[in-house]
Amino acid sequence: HDLSVNDYLRQHIRTVPDWPAPGVQFRDITPLLQDPQVFRVMIDAFVHRYRAREHRPDVVAGLDARGFIIGAVVAYELGVGFVPIRKKGKLPFTTVEETYELEYGSATVELHADAVRAGDRVLLVDDLIATGGTMMAGKRLLEKLGAQVMEGAAIVDLPELGGSSRLRASGLALHTLVD
Ligand code: PRP
Ligand code: ADE
Repeated sequence: HDLSVNDYLRQHIRTVPDWPAPGVQFRDITPLLQDPQVFRVMIDAFVHRYRAREHRPDVVAGLDARGFIIGAVVAYELGVGFVPIRKKGKLPFTTVEETYELEYGSATVELHADAVRAGDRVLLVDDLIATGGTMMAGKRLLEKLGAQVMEGAAIVDLPELGGSSRLRASGLALHTLVD
């Protein structure tokens, strides 16, 4: 982590205890989006990395719903396309799907069958990694279509929940801005 970016962004993440369920410390990134200067520092941190030739993706995939906010802006800045990975029942065309466990419940996500092409190098974006289940499901969906997930990117990693270790152990490179 870039220490200064880490400290700066950390100050703008709000912790809400016992939400949405008792025992969950919810890390709320909305204050970070609300401040235009902080929003820009966060987006620029990703854009700087993924503009580099060796990290440049062919397409950005964003995870429902907060991954859309970050992923779409990063894709726009990189000049590549954006594809949404959505909670089940939202995408109108033919989809592939994956079911997974969350810190608080379970979910199924879908991706349009023509969203990426075999061989595409995809950057997979979300706001936060907790158990890693969401990002793992996204990776599996993209791989079902023959794409290669070059890296997973998130603002926040919650390392004590073990998700980032599990994702890395599965062979996924990760880039996060704040622990
Ligand atoms: C949150 C967060 C990530 C996911 C991380 O989304 O935005 O997508 O949980 O948890 P995991 O690493 O344990 O999978 P949530 O499911 O709350 O949905 P939302 O973005 O629609 O609020
Ligand atoms: N998604 C899963 N766990 C979370 C947490 N603790 N804070 C914010 N988003 C989450």
